[in-house]
Amino acid sequence: MADSINNNRAQFATRLGIIATTVGSAVGLGNIWRFPYEAGNNGGGAFLLCYILCIVILGIPVLCAEFAIGRSTQSNIFGAFRALKASGKWHWVGYIGILASIMILSFYSVVAGWTMEYLYQSIVGGLNFKNIDAFHSHFSTFSTSNWRPIMWTVLFLLCNYIIVVRGVKKGIEKMSNIMIPALFVLLIIFCINSLMMPNASEGLTFLFTPDFSKITPKVVVSALGQAFFSLSLGLGTMMTYGSYFSKDTHIVRSATITASLDTLVAILAGLIIFPAVFSFGMSPVQGPALVFEVLPSIFAQMPGGQIWSILFFFLLFLASLSSTISMSEVSIAFLSEEKKMSRTKASTLNLAVALVGGVLSALSFGYLSNLNFFGLFDINFFNFFDFTSSNILLPLGGMLISIFAGWILERSRLKDTLTNGGKIGVRTFSLLVLCLKYLAPICIMLIFLLGLGIF
Ligand code: TRP
Repeated sequence: MADSINNNRAQFATRLGIIATTVGSAVGLGNIWRFPYEAGNNGGGAFLLCYILCIVILGIPVLCAEFAIGRSTQSNIFGAFRALKASGKWHWVGYIGILASIMILSFYSVVAGWTMEYLYQSIVGGLNFKNIDAFHSHFSTFSTSNWRPIMWTVLFLLCNYIIVVRGVKKGIEKMSNIMIPALFVLLIIFCINSLMMPNASEGLTFLFTPDFSKITPKVVVSALGQAFFSLSLGLGTMMTYGSYFSKDTHIVRSATITASLDTLVAILAGLIIFPAVFSFGMSPVQGPALVFEVLPSIFAQMPGGQIWSILFFFLLFLASLSSTISMSEVSIAFLSEEKKMSRTKASTLNLAVALVGGVLSALSFGYLSNLNFFGLFDINFFNFFDFTSSNILLPLGGMLISIFAGWILERSRLKDTLTNGGKIGVRTFSLLVLCLKYLAPICIMLIFLLGLGIF
């Protein structure tokens, strides 16, 4: 059975475009902001080891499954399950995806807003401090203030809106083609710079030497969440992107390249941050502030630091944008294709909901930082959105997608899609099926139970 190609649907123009766009979705704040701080909080090497295992055993197979379901049905996540005649409640995976994408968009825009503030400060020369403590207090003053973070969050969401409303091909593909390679080059330069710092080797030891006694349930759950977050998995983003693939895209190869480049960027970020952290005599356990304190301190010490800083924060801003565009695409494709809304209307609705979530998240560091829910528990919207989406909803979505691909989807259809109708050989097919059928669902379930303290 060949893929049904619907000619009215947008498609990515070139092979490079496909890789650049999926990598553009995957590479973002997840790699450069979230990975270093999660690794810092969770024991460095122990975290990296679990993270890489999750990428290889769970991430790549689920990524193949998302691409395959998307391309073979040429549809958004709801339409995809319907087209595959999935009886029962499979479309609920779509609702999980939409909920998660809105939560992520909310807190992600706040961090992207921080990036814009740092871009602005780099341009006006406002980041000229002498030591890391000054950068620390600069960041906490900024992030806990009430108006500036909100202003940048709103501005970022508007940028996202402007691109998203114009459609798939025009905006996303062109930008990613330039931005991803440029970001790569900058990261490599910074990496070399960090490795030459005094005490850099302590940072390398921290990142690359796993201390097995540090592998706790919390570390495993965080590594799984980070793997799914970083690969943009579990909520239908990659399914929606897969639906824009052409019929001769090599799915398994694209998935492997995407995952490798994404992991490489995360490791490069670690190689920039941790040598510097130890060189400055800091603790790696800094939470979300880590990158926003360490990176500007590195730039301040580099020759031509202001230019590097401007370039970097500009590219990070673009990388965030290419990720939020992909997140927004899930609900926009749903609203426009399932609910028959115009693209403009769908984008506006997406913007409105994200604005509410974004403002709540932005205030989580300042005005709403001590919010208490009727005296029952403390709630911090930023952490709540981040934790619930990354550590619960994405793995849950990923587990359901792998069960679907492994047990419900006709094997012949899966094979046909992955081999482009028999035109290319996929040697790893049985291994992939094994992962989707057994390994991924069982591992994710075990990690959940572990995280809930059931073991
Ligand atoms: N992967 C992106 C990053 O690392 C974030 C992202 C984009 C995402 N789309 C997603 C995360 C979908 C989860 C699901 O920055």
